[in-house]
Amino acid sequence: MPADIFLRLLILCLYGTIHGCLQDRASAYKYTGAVCRLTHPAAAVLNEKTTKVIEAAFQHARYPSMKGEKSAGFLGKVLYGLENLEIFNLSIGQSEFELRPGEGIGLQINNVSAVFSGTLQYGYGSWLVNVAQRLDFEVETQIDLGINPKLYCGNSKVAADTSDCYLNFHKFRLYLQGDKEPNWLKRLFTDFITFTVKLVVKGQICKEINKLADILAEFIQDTAAEFLSDGAISVDIGVTTSPLITANYIESYHKGLTKYLNSTSSINNSVFHPNQLTENRMLYFWFSDDIFKPLIAAAHQDGRFQLNISSEEVKTLFKTSLSSVKPEYIERCLVEPASPELRVWSSAVPTLNTSTMGTSITAQATGQLYCGSQNEPTLFFQTNVTVDVTASYAEKKLFLHGKPQEISVVRAELPQENQQIYDEAQIEFIREAVEKIGVPKVLSVLEVEITRLMDKQGASLFDIINPEVLHKEGYVVAQMDFGFPHHLLVDFLKRTLQ
Ligand SMILES: *[C@@H]1O[C@H](CO)[C@@H](O)[C@H](O)[C@H]1NC(C)=O
Ligand SMILES: *[C@@H]1O[C@H](CO)[C@@H](O)[C@H](O)[C@H]1NC(C)=O
Ligand SMILES: *[C@@H]1O[C@H](CO)[C@@H](O)[C@H](O)[C@H]1NC(C)=O
Ligand SMILES: *[C@@H]1O[C@H](CO)[C@@H](O)[C@H](O)[C@H]1NC(C)=O
Ligand SMILES: *[C@@H]1O[C@H](CO)[C@@H](O)[C@H](O)[C@H]1NC(C)=O
Ligand SMILES: *[C@@H]1O[C@H](CO)[C@@H](O)[C@H](O)[C@H]1NC(C)=O
Ligand SMILES: *[C@@H]1O[C@H](CO)[C@@H](O)[C@H](O)[C@H]1NC(C)=O
Repeated sequence: MPADIFLRLLILCLYGTIHGCLQDRASAYKYTGAVCRLTHPAAAVLNEKTTKVIEAAFQHARYPSMKGEKSAGFLGKVLYGLENLEIFNLSIGQSEFELRPGEGIGLQINNVSAVFSGTLQYGYGSWLVNVAQRLDFEVETQIDLGINPKLYCGNSKVAADTSDCYLNFHKFRLYLQGDKEPNWLKRLFTDFITFTVKLVVKGQICKEINKLADILAEFIQDTAAEFLSDGAISVDIGVTTSPLITANYIESYHKGLTKYLNSTSSINNSVFHPNQLTENRMLYFWFSDDIFKPLIAAAHQDGRFQLNISSEEVKTLFKTSLSSVKPEYIERCLVEPASPELRVWSSAVPTLNTSTMGTSITAQATGQLYCGSQNEPTLFFQTNVTVDVTASYAEKKLFLHGKPQEISVVRAELPQENQQIYDEAQIEFIREAVEKIGVPKVLSVLEVEITRLMDKQGASLFDIINPEVLHKEGYVVAQMDFGFPHHLLVDFLKRTLQ
């Protein structure tokens, strides 16, 4: 729809499975883990592409044949049919939109001019078969098109109802061709052709707009669902209440519940309030800590937080300069012919807590360093780590910045010697290595992984402009402007329409 273009982002925001759709928005906030706000300037950017979608709707529409009959004085009954209706020389002016608070979106496309051509068949009375005539015609039209999509909390997702679709013809000039008796015929058929062409065009265009909206909705739903599901872990982004439309923005409210194996997380005390978001950027995503906590717990339970680093990379990592002295067994491990391998994993459910300082992540990391022998590690260590992480995004890549708050060595052993390490200098070396080598390494693995997910899921469909990630008490806001490159839209329409 014209709104598709809108809807492309909208539905991304809005899609979800709905079990309960609360009427009272204020109480729905408490169950809301994620919010998406699309402001008026964003809608304006999307609206610039509306004409492309309308053009696609006109060109892609197929116009069915129509039949009728008419009484024509002394001739008796005239039977006629309209077929091969086609569209030529389509030109579309500009579209305008408005956000109608509490109601929906108003979209107006003025001055669509198009030539329709077709064939008229007619015959008299019962001799139709014998005296049927064919005659080509053309109609020059100028049309104003209006669509007023309503967004609602529907069956299994937020739906856009585009049934309020109308076409006004403010020019309709009919030309009949190649006929011997055009004057009386023209009089006879003008009303019929006018009425029929208007009806067919309106019906087909509105149908096509609906169809395009469905295709886009499906595409976006699949994308959103895929993005949020990985293996046994998925996130329910169903909406908690119907979207809010104000004069300045459209906002949707989502559950954000993690499903893993047989359990689903719950959010019932969310801190969301609309005044936590401003209106001067194009697009806002609000995420509660309550979304991330069960998500990282599930990732931990699913064994996702494991990292095996092999020989060359271990050696490279340990080139990082540390102020503490390397214990001798480490030195030996890093030179030929030793072939070191470092295995690190999360050994307790990690948790997080966002404040204005960043998102503070607390984890327990356990590691083993193998130095040749595959049976028994040379070093075993267990550490508790708290790191404040802030995120930024630039050049289509996510960056995580970690600021270690507290890193403590819980336990360290030399298993081959069946010996606990108590020596403070050695403990300090492990602590420093975790802080200066381990934390940056883990964050860089996460950066790559998240960036890959975003790419795969079409984050690159938009040019994200000047994004910011804000860390607040208990939630994170990602806010950005965006551009919508013309060629991407054209590609998308081509792909979806054929
Ligand atoms: C479409 O426009 C071209 C050039 O303006 C004109 O030659 C052609 O006849 C038009 N086609 C129809 C079907 O009116
Ligand atoms: C409609 O389009 C025609 C031709 O493209 C142009 O001459 C006319 O000024 C336009 N009218 C409006 C109201 O935009
Ligand atoms: C999930 O639930 C089903 C049926 O309630 C049960 O058979 C299955 O063992 C459960 N799986 C897990 C991993 O708990
Ligand atoms: C509210 O959510 C918490 C987890 O965040 C859960 O333990 C608790 O049972 C929930 N309460 C209700 C009434 O659902
Ligand atoms: C790391 O290595 C261990 C032992 O070979 C293996 O069991 C584990 O699956 C590996 N983990 C990853 C993430 O490759
Ligand atoms: C989370 O951070 C806030 C503010 O920094 C603090 O008051 C609170 O105790 C922290 N909660 C946890 C579970 O760490
Ligand atoms: C380390 O973390 C674990 C679990 O997160 C906790 O039970 C333990 O008390 C912590 N140990 C130290 C020394 O901080």
